[in-house]
Amino acid sequence: MMNTHVVILAAGLGTRMRSKRAKVLHRAGGLALIEHVIAAARALAPPSSIVVVTGHQAEEVEKVAGPSGVRFARQAEQKGTGHALQCARSAIADETGLLMVLYGDTPLLSAATLLRLRDTQCASDAAATLITTALHNPAGYGRVLMDERGNVGAIVEDKACTPEQRSVREINSGIYCFRAELLWKYLGEMQPANPAGEYYLTDMAEILARHGHPLHAMHLDDSSELLGINTRIELADADRLLRRRKADELMLSGVTIERPETVSIDVQARVGMDTVIEPAARILGASEIGDDCRIGAGAIVENSSLADGAIVRPYSVIADSRLESGAQVGPFARLRMNAEIGPNARVGNFVEVKKSRLGTGSKSQHLAYLGDTQIGDRVNIGAGTITCNYDGEKKHQTKIGDGAFVGSNATLVAPLEIGNQSYIGAGSVITDAVPDGALALGRGRQVVKTDWVAKRKKRD
Ligand code: UD1
Ligand code: CA
Repeated sequence: MMNTHVVILAAGLGTRMRSKRAKVLHRAGGLALIEHVIAAARALAPPSSIVVVTGHQAEEVEKVAGPSGVRFARQAEQKGTGHALQCARSAIADETGLLMVLYGDTPLLSAATLLRLRDTQCASDAAATLITTALHNPAGYGRVLMDERGNVGAIVEDKACTPEQRSVREINSGIYCFRAELLWKYLGEMQPANPAGEYYLTDMAEILARHGHPLHAMHLDDSSELLGINTRIELADADRLLRRRKADELMLSGVTIERPETVSIDVQARVGMDTVIEPAARILGASEIGDDCRIGAGAIVENSSLADGAIVRPYSVIADSRLESGAQVGPFARLRMNAEIGPNARVGNFVEVKKSRLGTGSKSQHLAYLGDTQIGDRVNIGAGTITCNYDGEKKHQTKIGDGAFVGSNATLVAPLEIGNQSYIGAGSVITDAVPDGALALGRGRQVVKTDWVAKRKKRD
């Protein structure tokens, strides 16, 4: 196998996005556009052989793409796709073998297609192979003009097309596999001879042909992979296609998805077998859902993990948290910042849990706020219980021992420790530690005035 380097062009602002942010940072399917392209490129080469060309918001793009281990080259001024490739040259150690060029704004590209492109190029004597496809509406794309031998004769940008050329439906995807020596030998011949004054990489088609080196086209019937994102409408299309692809992949691996067109599942999320995802649920970020779970209608699970058999009922919001096996939350529950719901524990409607753990089989079923609290096993938290974890300056911890029973509407003022098997009377304000096995009451004693109504009437 020939050694392969990959250059991903990502320096443009993307004027048509009408955004302050560089185009390749916009997100679809839960990742930045550039992250999708890098993921596909990883099928071709190790990260040390992938160079991303940055320019607009280079620092931000490098921060997002950096963790993948790729290398970077800067294009200080955006003088076109051909110029961007020239800027990458010094970052590539070896000018033999294959050089693949990808554009950072084509997030649907699959690794399988890239491998096919490489194999097609390896099996031919062409100077390069270019992926093309036919579009019903090719507006905005470069048109591929074939010569009489069936090779690519020229690529003409949309803006530069004659009316006749504009009717050509075969377009340039922006994905090329070059024989590296030939590319670098002739790249200097590009001229900015167009109204934009840019160096167009697409001019290499004519340049190579002029030197007697044919350029082949690899035609794809399914054009959906080649969508280049230039506008927010295309961004929304890409997002929908990526999520549809993800849902299909999960359904084929044994996940039931009701009304899949309504759910949003980010590409990195993992979901186990026989889990059911109800309509309009969202599973975001690096969430991991086990087997036999259920995600209710309209629920949002973000960067969270669910062990096997955990259930999230409708309209709950779960972020950066964990449900252990058989735990159940919602409907209308909110978990955030490292909430941990232990095995078979339950959290019900209008309960917020933050930086807290509920132990095995513990329950908080209605209307509560549990913050900075460690709750043992088999604890019952009554409706309306509030942990007062914040004194206006600092956050404080609450600890509730195994088997404790906290009555409804208790106000637990932290820092506080409540012992094992103890009871807290309903409506209490608890400020001091409660020992194991004790009953604590902190409320006004009830007063009953008999015949009070009749006496008042007489007074008037
Ligand atoms: C380009 C192709 C067009 C093709 C289409 C496919 C050229 C001249 N045109 O057009 O034939 O049909 O892609 O989607 O190549 N970039 C840089 N530096 C620059 C300019 C661009 O790094 O100076 C990067 C952009 O960040 C982007 C990619 O190159 O990721 C493509 O640029 P874009 O301006 O979107 O090109 P198109 O007009 O779509
Ligand atoms: Ca584009």
